[in-house]
Amino acid sequence: PYIIAEPCVDVMDKACIEECPVDCIYEGGRMLYIHPDECVDCGACEPVCPVEAIYYEDDTPDQWTGYIQANVDFFDELGSPGGAAKLGRVDYDPPLIKALPPMGE
Ligand code: F3S
Ligand code: F3S
Repeated sequence: PYIIAEPCVDVMDKACIEECPVDCIYEGGRMLYIHPDECVDCGACEPVCPVEAIYYEDDTPDQWTGYIQANVDFFDELGSPGGAAKLGRVDYDPPLIKALPPMGE
């Protein structure tokens, strides 16, 4: 699947949400997360992110590979909701993200 990495933290532009045909980009506390099982690899979200936070999993820059697991971990308690719009914002971030200092501009 595709994943969202560190540039999204505290930015949360959400342009990506509009592009996803399967509504699998979910809003957490400090960033958004792509559901690894619901993403159909269409790639539509990747070019629209203004801060280039979205990567195909295997193309994730080395310094952000921890975000591959973070996108998985976000869904530990949620399972597979089958759509982000109806779920809405979830006030949770995996420890990797939660521990970061304030980011963005
Ligand atoms: Fe984040 Fe970029 Fe989407 S900043 S919310 S991944 S458009
Ligand atoms: Fe959606 Fe992006 Fe996957 S648009 S299907 S999250 S590649």
